[in-house]
Amino acid sequence: MSRFTALFTSTLLWPASLIAGWQTTFVASDLRDPMEISIASNGDLYVIEREGRVLRVQPATGAMMEIGLIPVTALRATNKGSSWAREDGLLGLALDPQFERNQRMYLYYSAPDKMLNRLSRFTLKNGTIDTRSEQMLLEIPTDRRDKVCHQAGSLAFGKDGLLYLSTGDNTNPFESGGVAPIDDREDRDHANAMRSAGNTNDLRGKVLRIKPTEKGYDIPKGNLFPPGTAKTRPEIYVMGCRNPFRLSVDPKTQTIYWGEVGPDAGNPSPKGPAGHDEINQAKSAGNHGWPFLVGNNKPYPIVDFTKGAVGAMTDPAAPKNPSKFNTGLEVLPAARAAFIWYPYSASAEFPLMGQGGRNAMAGPVFYYDANRKYNLLSQEDDRTLLTYDWMRNKAWKVKLDEQENFVKMEPWLEGLQHPMDMEMAADGSIYLLEYGADWYFNKNGRIRHITPDIGNKAPQVTIKTGAGNSFVAEVKELEKENCTVVWYLTKGLEDRKVGEGTKIELANKLGDQLRAVATDPRGNRGIARVLLSSGSQPELSLKLKGNPQQLGFGENISFTIEGAADDKDIVIRARYIPPTGHDAGGPSLATDAAKLITAKQCLACHQVETPSVGPAYLDVAMRYRDDKQALARLQQKLKIGGGGVWGEIPMPPQAAVNEQESQQIIQAILGLSEGMGELRGKRQGTLTLPAAPANAAPGGAWEIVAQAPNATNAKTRVNCK
Ligand code: HEC
Repeated sequence: MSRFTALFTSTLLWPASLIAGWQTTFVASDLRDPMEISIASNGDLYVIEREGRVLRVQPATGAMMEIGLIPVTALRATNKGSSWAREDGLLGLALDPQFERNQRMYLYYSAPDKMLNRLSRFTLKNGTIDTRSEQMLLEIPTDRRDKVCHQAGSLAFGKDGLLYLSTGDNTNPFESGGVAPIDDREDRDHANAMRSAGNTNDLRGKVLRIKPTEKGYDIPKGNLFPPGTAKTRPEIYVMGCRNPFRLSVDPKTQTIYWGEVGPDAGNPSPKGPAGHDEINQAKSAGNHGWPFLVGNNKPYPIVDFTKGAVGAMTDPAAPKNPSKFNTGLEVLPAARAAFIWYPYSASAEFPLMGQGGRNAMAGPVFYYDANRKYNLLSQEDDRTLLTYDWMRNKAWKVKLDEQENFVKMEPWLEGLQHPMDMEMAADGSIYLLEYGADWYFNKNGRIRHITPDIGNKAPQVTIKTGAGNSFVAEVKELEKENCTVVWYLTKGLEDRKVGEGTKIELANKLGDQLRAVATDPRGNRGIARVLLSSGSQPELSLKLKGNPQQLGFGENISFTIEGAADDKDIVIRARYIPPTGHDAGGPSLATDAAKLITAKQCLACHQVETPSVGPAYLDVAMRYRDDKQALARLQQKLKIGGGGVWGEIPMPPQAAVNEQESQQIIQAILGLSEGMGELRGKRQGTLTLPAAPANAAPGGAWEIVAQAPNATNAKTRVNCK
């Protein structure tokens, strides 16, 4: 588990602020592209980030702890131009309804080793994610090419224990003129949502609904197609979705709500209506129309992309999917109109939505409860759907009647920073996840805690770094009340109080973050934090001679490594990363072999990159990379076991592995050395980059890493010629 690696010495400012009558405090900050939050019954928050980190947040004191890192494929900051994996990553999170008792959480993520998104259940062990506990529930094959996007991926439980998962249409939206991506030409299926969202036999572009069980899941009653219906999938609850972002289940009625990010057409044309975003409501299973209808069932005609000819208009009562890529039913269930819909321009029906960029999100539903600590809205607002828009940075209140019909809409919050998820806590307060200022690669995502305004502003606190290891908290208190200031230090999973008052002197700066929490007499809080270094480990530094901008296959590069570590322990490695490759997860095994290695329990003692009980598979590959006899010898070693090569501990004989399997596994392990160059035991020297591997392509890069046990890696990236 990696700690915070960024070293911030400057003070970060996180004032609490008031937005139109609501008190807000930032209980977490410095998040990197945070995607979804979930609240445990003890009040702790769990949050996921797109590139795989899972964090626990204790809102009372602002403590943030990294509890796991899920290997995912996700576009990295260093590879901004890539159209690959633009919207992939760790996408969805839901805590088990019995989380307090069983420590289980559900995650939906883009697998780094396969072209699919996976829904898995993990169990925490001593507060951290035990990746070996992973229990796969669903795998959804997905395209990651030609600017295919829309992964959605929100997870939510209903109080009946049913789990909902929203999935995107996984389609390139840029090559169909902003109308329906229904390009049925042979090589254009990446731009054809008839293969996914409009297909009753495909799990993409859907809201799925399952009942998790010990072994996997059951299909609940009332999904769209009864189990056994030909050409359908029983997991489907709602079909016809484009990019259903952030899903919410009404706590009383189990009605579900979600935002639908709509297509781009600015104006209507013969090929279809203007694009609309939608807020959707489903009280039961149904078809929400995409890619044949949008908004309040505005139909698209079927367009022949070869000739540009406009064909029959879709009938909302019986939409048809005529695609040659459709593996499901041809005649689809009647389409449902959106609950709220709005285009880029001003909306005639919902003028309060405003205009401009759009990215609809929905839920939760507010119910008034006089017995709860907080009620953010009034008694008249009982049964009000909260909606928000990621682009417009606003939130709205939508009053519902007893039958959950739309009554009226009112503005609620504004000035948000890309609102990404909203959850209501048991005490009635709201946590709003803000993604950060940018489209990707944010480092300033945060969680806003919203409570009612009690007519008294929360203190604002900032931290100034003093001489040595001293820090000073500066508190601004509008009402001039006396505030208490308490200091907390987080190290790994441990968060403890380290002092009181406006000044603190630490013995050293070892830890992940230091916080000052200022509280006024009415209990309003302000939280400031500074990120410290990543603990006691010395950091290595790596210099490449001449600071090359580009390096070719087989080239020599002179390097110098500095930092405390034994010379003999130092390793420098250069890894070739193809332009569309498995960038995020590090070197990975071929899919089939990875499956076998999992099935044969090898992972109990081995990992790919990190030594465990047995050596890292990458180390094995590098050690034998020029050894022609390695395959036969290692197959033999698997059969009979033995020790002494890597250490004292012997490997037991791997009796469950037959001859053919062992060949496949060992070949895959040895294959990890492809595209990898290495030199051991030198602080200074010349590293020879490897020859071009089979997956070499223009636009690749080198990741060059200096590492040693118990030191923090130094890493650099150079483009590949
Ligand atoms: C109970 C722990 C354990 C399990 C399970 C295990 N290994 Fe190992 N493995 C080891 C240890 C310990 C070593 C180091 C042995 C040595 O130093 O010679 C090792 C070494 C290896 C090596 C390198 C051998 C060499 O001589 O360089 C390979 C390859 C390997 N294991 C593959 C596998 C595969 C494949 C599986 C699953 C089928 C597996 N291991 C299961 C503990 C284990």
